[in-house]
Amino acid sequence: MTEKEFIPSPYTKTVSTGKTRFKSPSNIALVKYWGKKENQIPANPSISFTLSECATVTTLSYTKLNNPGSMFSFNISLDGKREEGFKPKIKTFFERIYRYLPFLKEYHFEIETSNSFPHSSGIASSASGMSALALCLMDIERNLYPKMTLEYFNEKASFLARLGSGSAARSIKGSLVQWGNHASIKGSSDLFGIEYPNKVHPVFQNYCDTILLVDKGQKQVSSTVGHDLMHGHPFAEKRFSQAHENLSKLEPIFASGNLQDFIGIVESEALTLHAMMMTSMPYFILMKPNTLEIINKIWTFREATKSHVCFTLDAGANVHVLYPNDEKAEVERFIEDELAAFCQNGQFIHDHVGNGAQKIND
Ligand code: DP6
Repeated sequence: MTEKEFIPSPYTKTVSTGKTRFKSPSNIALVKYWGKKENQIPANPSISFTLSECATVTTLSYTKLNNPGSMFSFNISLDGKREEGFKPKIKTFFERIYRYLPFLKEYHFEIETSNSFPHSSGIASSASGMSALALCLMDIERNLYPKMTLEYFNEKASFLARLGSGSAARSIKGSLVQWGNHASIKGSSDLFGIEYPNKVHPVFQNYCDTILLVDKGQKQVSSTVGHDLMHGHPFAEKRFSQAHENLSKLEPIFASGNLQDFIGIVESEALTLHAMMMTSMPYFILMKPNTLEIINKIWTFREATKSHVCFTLDAGANVHVLYPNDEKAEVERFIEDELAAFCQNGQFIHDHVGNGAQKIND
């Protein structure tokens, strides 16, 4: 698919009013997206586990305008409260996707959104939020063009979500999702995420992720600023090629379920992401002392018990603890006994791999 193919042909139906609702999950990257080119094109391919419990539910009500203007007409609320602060981000999103959804200026939209995870928990809501909104918009387009295939629906939803937030491209469909062109991953594209097409061992299908809320404060560096710091970064090119190499190395690991090697790549990716921030100009340390305490505890526990628990990080201090489902009882006990003490107010969220977004019918 090329960008042009996402520009719709003339719609075959008209719809005056309606309402649609989608639940869309967050995702956790195993190979990280960090650095981008114009138009939300990633500097390197990435892959993530789709989550299940951490999700956004968005309801989109739409009414056809009698006199459409040149501006977008919408309101947005979070948990039932109007959020004027979200408007600029949505406006930018609408501007970016208008070319691909020309009906956008013909309707007034009421966007109601709520997250399953605590507000300001430091968990990024942009992936689940932008993908949920993109899916609602695609549902409208499907009403205007009922012949649309499901494949096109999902690809374009991911394509649009990407234009809202890169990682949102990986929150549409599938449990293991790859976004970004990679030579040996068939169908991979910089434009949208795809379900990982190669063999995946069953151990990865119900993998667990417990998110330890180490620091719930405002992010020190927005991801937009962070991605930007990769321009002119001294290690950028090497890092981008490393991401390609790590995806190649993961191919036999996903197929065989070799957790030893999986852990090596996942933890290295997390630390490399933070190393990029520490070596950019300006430089940042996004980990907190408790992040390091947790990492060390995980390493000690793994060594002592031969468990397959490991960690990954986002662009913040929180820690994602990853482990296979058949080690759930031991690892959850370890988290409660030894790691919860390093979380703000002892808070953590148990999550696991899910299958992607779903439409919610009334
Ligand atoms: C560290 O998708 O939040 O979580 O495209 O600017 O919205 P924008 O960035 P965003 O970046 C996510 C970066 C990351 C790694 C990842 O999810 O791959």
